[in-house]
Amino acid sequence: MRFGILTSGGDCPGLNAAIRAFVRRALIDGNEVYGFKDGWLGVVNNDYIRMTRESVSGIIFQGGTVLGTSRFNPVFDEGLTERCLENLDQLDGLVVIGGNGSLHIAYHFHRLWGKIVFIPKTIDNDIWGTESIGFDTAVNVASQLIDRLHSTAESHKRVFVVQVMGRHTGWIALYSGISSGADVIVIPEYPITVEEIAEIVERRKKMGRSFSIVVVAEGVRYSDQRVQNVGIHIQRRLARILSVETRFVEIGYVLRGGSPTAYDRLMAHVMGNFAYELVVNGKFGYITAYNGYDVFSTKMDAIVGRLKTVSVEDYLSAKYFFG
Ligand code: F6P
Repeated sequence: MRFGILTSGGDCPGLNAAIRAFVRRALIDGNEVYGFKDGWLGVVNNDYIRMTRESVSGIIFQGGTVLGTSRFNPVFDEGLTERCLENLDQLDGLVVIGGNGSLHIAYHFHRLWGKIVFIPKTIDNDIWGTESIGFDTAVNVASQLIDRLHSTAESHKRVFVVQVMGRHTGWIALYSGISSGADVIVIPEYPITVEEIAEIVERRKKMGRSFSIVVVAEGVRYSDQRVQNVGIHIQRRLARILSVETRFVEIGYVLRGGSPTAYDRLMAHVMGNFAYELVVNGKFGYITAYNGYDVFSTKMDAIVGRLKTVSVEDYLSAKYFFG
């Protein structure tokens, strides 16, 4: 049989481990695998790499994606959609590795063509009903970097506002904030006010802790925010309210780079292997969902259009430890 595979949307650590697992399983059984370059752009242009055992050798620990990726979306152009369908018709199935945006595209083509399986990846961890490749690595990197800010914040008695990625949800901020002992965590789902943040910082000061670490997700928005960057907004406002020395640090694309953690590699490996089992058995229209070392299939139509957000209970249980 002939299968295609592509990575689409923002990259993250662990993509290569998933590609490797799928390709190796498929080749062992005597199938052909076509790796489309740069996401859906590769499908439009029929631009692919014929995958071999060598093309996936030594990549399980590498960040990025050997296939390349892009945010290119052919859905709204009839001509491009037709070209995709013509090229897909040469295949017996396609595996798409992507985030929420890519899931929309994959679902669209699944409804037209019927032979797609989806592997979830995003450092933002916001795909409904599953864990996603890349999140664990992002949380680990963010935690380690925030750890490093503690000593300099304490030495200078400063307040550090640390902005991490998370366009719509606060998963990275919450998990890295908890694990690095941040004093305040601000997320888009429940954005506490700058006045509340200032109160917590003040309370700490009265207890003799003259420094604070405030972790904020990039997706938080305030009505009086004039600057694009919410972290800068909070930092400036805190400086005014508290007259303390403040600093802003952005932990952005570095979260998407470098080597994946063992957890992400394992998840990606298991999902790649499982995706092969789904396509070879003609079980299309599913995503490879993952929950704590357990893999299972969930229908794409139950996931598409939904966002996995932080629950109020989870946020409140983190809030007990603020200050
Ligand atoms: O991968 C998700 C994400 O990292 C978001 O948190 C961020 O806003 C976005 O991607 C930025 O990605 P790009 O600049 O590649 O579009």
